[in-house]
Amino acid sequence: MTTQFQFPNGFLWGTATAAHQVEGNNINSDFWVMEHVPGTMFAEPSGDACDHYHRYCDDIALLVELGFNTYRFSVEWARIEPEEGCFSRASLEHYRRMLTACHEHGLTPMITFHHFTSPRWLIAAGGWESKETPAKFARYCERTTRYLGDLIGAACTINEANLGAILVNAGHMPPVGVTQQAPWWTAAARAVGVPTDQFAPFIFALSPQAVDIILTAHRRSVEAIKAAGGSFPVGITLALQDVQATAGGEARAAQLNRQINDIFLEPLHGDDFVGVQSYSRMRVGHDGPLPAEEGAELTQMGYEFYPEALEATIRNAIAVAGIPVIVTENGIGTVDDTRRIAYVERALRSVARCLSDGLDVRGYTYWSALDNFEWMLGYRPAFGLIAVDRETQQRIVKPSARWLGAIARANGF
Ligand code: GCO
Repeated sequence: MTTQFQFPNGFLWGTATAAHQVEGNNINSDFWVMEHVPGTMFAEPSGDACDHYHRYCDDIALLVELGFNTYRFSVEWARIEPEEGCFSRASLEHYRRMLTACHEHGLTPMITFHHFTSPRWLIAAGGWESKETPAKFARYCERTTRYLGDLIGAACTINEANLGAILVNAGHMPPVGVTQQAPWWTAAARAVGVPTDQFAPFIFALSPQAVDIILTAHRRSVEAIKAAGGSFPVGITLALQDVQATAGGEARAAQLNRQINDIFLEPLHGDDFVGVQSYSRMRVGHDGPLPAEEGAELTQMGYEFYPEALEATIRNAIAVAGIPVIVTENGIGTVDDTRRIAYVERALRSVARCLSDGLDVRGYTYWSALDNFEWMLGYRPAFGLIAVDRETQQRIVKPSARWLGAIARANGF
């Protein structure tokens, strides 16, 4: 491959996963409950997922063989602290083995402390609408850092802290009241043991107060991680939106950009980095977000194929937060692997333009290493560089994995 653009030395090239989406049998989590109640809104349960809990060693070896130097994965709070205040040494040991495997293979491990799932007991106590949650989250981060910190390469506190803000302001979800009246909601609340109006898993914590609680949890956890001796870079990740106004939509677009992006970026001054996660753009008209234009190519998720959103979101993140960026997620759900390559190629050109302008971008981790459990949509969307046979758990490397791995190895394209 002739190299035309060289990335900075030490640039992180990786892939990302989240515990619940790949490990399997995360039975002490709130999501497991929601997946199994009658009338669940999940297309199917997560089940064994990719059995990454047992197969991590082979998976990590494969990622290294492909050419990557970083692996972003999450540690599962519901396993590490299965009951409030009761920490599982065995679970912490599991993650120590995973981190050790990364180092043995020369991968820099980047962990996420919270990637959507929470322990049932946290939700029973009011979850992400409770003012007690930041202290509980900070304690979990502190204990985990004391146990694993010497092996962590970088850490994300909370994944997509602005998710609720997107769901509320961009109208991606039925209004809160509608969801709360669904029979599955009542059943799930009952199963964790909380009144229906206090059932607040992370993705359903949608009140303005939840934004405060999540940002406070981030702040307290950063302090706790540093106090526990964590000397690795720590940041939060955000699902940043490339908000583009169409004629007449300027005022609404500016408002959305604030509500979804900037109020989350502003308080990050002083953090080591911000994790930028970008998938598509948001076109906005006078009355709010617009569907993709007639004829536009859509991904399996139903959103527009628009990799250049990454450039706009990186630029905005650096302009507003004023700190380095790591692209902690970028990717596409598609069964046509040639479209994945086309998408990532354009996304990497976006990163290259930012770097050429002197912006401090430290890495790119593709979502996702493996085809995995895409939450409510189940196993249908295929984000992985590596396919997984759902019967045998066999890993099947896609051409895009070899293509991106070669770029990672060359540190350029
Ligand atoms: C998110 C999460 C991932 C998703 C990915 C694809 O952005 O929702 O971080 O868990 O699987 O983004 O939709």
